[in-house]
Amino acid sequence: MRITPVVLAAGQGTRMKSDLPKVLHPVLGRPLVWHAIHTLKQVTDVKPVLVVGHGAEEVQKLIGEEARFAYQEQQLGTGHAVMQTADLLKGQTEYVLVSYADMPLLSAETFQQILDTQLQNAGPLTILTNIVDDPRGFGRVIRDANGNVQAIVEELHATPEQRKTRELNTGLYCFRADWLWGALERIPLSPKGEYYLTDLVGIAVSDGLAVQTVTITDPVEVIGINTRVHLAEATARMRERVNRHWMLAGVTIIDPQTTFIEVDVTLGQDTVIWPNTYLQGDTKVGSGCELGPNAVIRDTQIGSHCKVFASVLEHALLEDHVDVGPFGHLRKGAHLAQGVHMGNFGEVKNSYLGPGTKMGHFSYLGDATLGTDVNIGAGTITCNYDGKSKHPTEIGDKAFIGSDTMLVAPIKIGEGARTGAGSVVTKDIPPNTLAVGVPARKIRKMT
Ligand code: UD1
Ligand code: CA
Repeated sequence: MRITPVVLAAGQGTRMKSDLPKVLHPVLGRPLVWHAIHTLKQVTDVKPVLVVGHGAEEVQKLIGEEARFAYQEQQLGTGHAVMQTADLLKGQTEYVLVSYADMPLLSAETFQQILDTQLQNAGPLTILTNIVDDPRGFGRVIRDANGNVQAIVEELHATPEQRKTRELNTGLYCFRADWLWGALERIPLSPKGEYYLTDLVGIAVSDGLAVQTVTITDPVEVIGINTRVHLAEATARMRERVNRHWMLAGVTIIDPQTTFIEVDVTLGQDTVIWPNTYLQGDTKVGSGCELGPNAVIRDTQIGSHCKVFASVLEHALLEDHVDVGPFGHLRKGAHLAQGVHMGNFGEVKNSYLGPGTKMGHFSYLGDATLGTDVNIGAGTITCNYDGKSKHPTEIGDKAFIGSDTMLVAPIKIGEGARTGAGSVVTKDIPPNTLAVGVPARKIRKMT
């Protein structure tokens, strides 16, 4: 039996007051529409059909192969949006699971629950409802004296009596496809000029068919995003969920209120996260690390037993037992091998620091390759840019770069070589040779 998810994502999201289509606004590092699709993947292998319209190109580019697309040229309502999938799906699926792309917190369990209810009952559709104290803004679920669902009435069109109803339509539905396609054609145009998907409830009832409901147990799941206030609320709830997940997996989070872990990040057991730490993008952290306080780590791979204190890491790679900070900045292509120590006010870009290398104070390494156990003295700079191009620096194993050395690239410093404090190195230094001065001259062979 085939069950096809349909996600509605064509609306403009006027209430967001944004140039960006609503469904592309990010929640913890991924856009709203990504969350919808990601959760559905846990429910079924069938690729969802995404109804796109406003900002269709951008949405399609972002989602790519993860979905099939139906185009809704004019946004004439949620019912009209589902109609646009008929060409793709008519005769191809037994059930259609419809959700709105603006509910990023819906869980796979809830999708499964609504599906199971539909499969176990004879009625043509099942809807997910929510019972609340303050029903502002949502469609109301109207029941008769026997408790049978009669209709969903949008707030705009509800009578004062109907408005008092505390049971709301959340925007998740499961339909029997053989009934759905015909029923969609029968949706009347609303006074607002839209075809409401929610009118299918009344249509089923007028066909003498029962509408099943599932009531959500955790109302957080059905936070729908219409404004940036809702976006912040949903982000806060998602953050609690992610933090909780990692704490239960063995990560210590000293202050969850000030810890921001995006959804793609992974963390190893016994890692400790101090306050005001941001783990973003494609970041992976091993076990037994200490991160923060005050760390921003983006798209970075970190091994085990590393320390990152008050530093910014972007697109970097740290092997095991590396420690960075305070006030380190690792940029794209920084690769710190096992046991590297990088201290205060250092910056590393597109460079490899071999095992055990130390760079304690105020230094910049760009486009450099360093061997094992190199010592970078305070204030060392690779002068890698001549105003036109970037040039490489190579430093051999156990070399000792004296404080305030300027390494004018391209340049090679041999194994075991040394530079005196304040040297400006413009020529290669052979292995085991001491060079000093401005520009630095070789003065003697040391071994
Ligand atoms: C909708 C429901 C309402 C429910 C609420 C829950 C209808 C008529 N109303 O109202 O009962 O309580 O959600 O959040 O369905 N969309 C399209 N094409 C369109 C219009 C909308 O793809 O022509 C998409 C939007 O991108 C969005 C979703 O459908 O993802 C819901 O649209 P929205 O305008 O947010 O509906 P609500 O007014 O919130
Ligand atoms: Ca909505």
